[in-house]
Amino acid sequence: MKTRILQAGRLLPSLEARLAAAFDTVLLAEQPDPQAYLAEYGAGFEGFVTSAGVGFTAATLDRLPRLRVISSFGVGLDKLDLAAARARGIAVGYTPDVLNDCVADLAMALLLDIGRRVSEADRFVRRGAWTTPGAKSFPLARKVSGAKLGIVGFGRIGQTIARRAAGFGMDIRYHTRRPVAGAPWLHEPALVELARWCDYLVVITAGGAGTRHLVNAEVLEALGPRGFVVNVARGSVIDEAALVQALVERRIGGAGLDVFEDEPNVPRALFDLDNVVLVPHIASGTEETRQAMADRVFDNLQGFLRDGRMISPAPM
Ligand code: DGY
Repeated sequence: MKTRILQAGRLLPSLEARLAAAFDTVLLAEQPDPQAYLAEYGAGFEGFVTSAGVGFTAATLDRLPRLRVISSFGVGLDKLDLAAARARGIAVGYTPDVLNDCVADLAMALLLDIGRRVSEADRFVRRGAWTTPGAKSFPLARKVSGAKLGIVGFGRIGQTIARRAAGFGMDIRYHTRRPVAGAPWLHEPALVELARWCDYLVVITAGGAGTRHLVNAEVLEALGPRGFVVNVARGSVIDEAALVQALVERRIGGAGLDVFEDEPNVPRALFDLDNVVLVPHIASGTEETRQAMADRVFDNLQGFLRDGRMISPAPM
């Protein structure tokens, strides 16, 4: 008999097909009343497939008394109640590493976009401003090559961003609680000082309670009217109300944002600002990387069920 696997929400079609071929899978999000379904049938499932965006709570685990393994699509752990899983001895897998390149690529794309005003220039051309007789020419942008880059969080993705930025001849420093052994860039223990020093502040630290509003009004003030912020981490890491206020009042130079505090809701006040680039949480969103993440979700699940081993167990 095939192992019963509960799938929290929709996944890549290729992953859903692989899961359905190997296991007896049920899509929870498709049930008319997911809570009633869990109460009635939860005891039948040994595996649970979720994602960084959906996660799982202790209450969900309570409804899955025979659960042995959870496989999550994504690197973020902030919505996964790892303590509840640990208390039950449930193994948890996730998908680090395979997305480092794409998240770093998008951080650079946002940085280049806000610095060089790419999206703003695109809008300028599309609305016919370039060909309007007597119209003002497009304003000058800011140089990226050789500029000062501050990176908040210096794990695998932060270091990948640093290597890309080094290719642009950027002067790089990073902020973490402790210096990263062997990193050839300067560690700045005070985030406010990093913000004061840099031209571009890229946020790529883990989300969750420990980093909530790490980038606050004081940090934004230090960044100043010629400083830009890029967030490819979690919306919760930046105090979004303070960020919106700083942008509206032009107290920082601009922002490139992939993530928001209340996704998919983006503060309307940002929509009219030319110095802001907004994208819908797409940092890992390429065909190649999403497929690699899907493969890892499957391999973690199958590996655990076959011989108790995962390629990438979550740090518990
Ligand atoms: C991740 O992998 O954590 C992405 O940000 C998607 O949530």
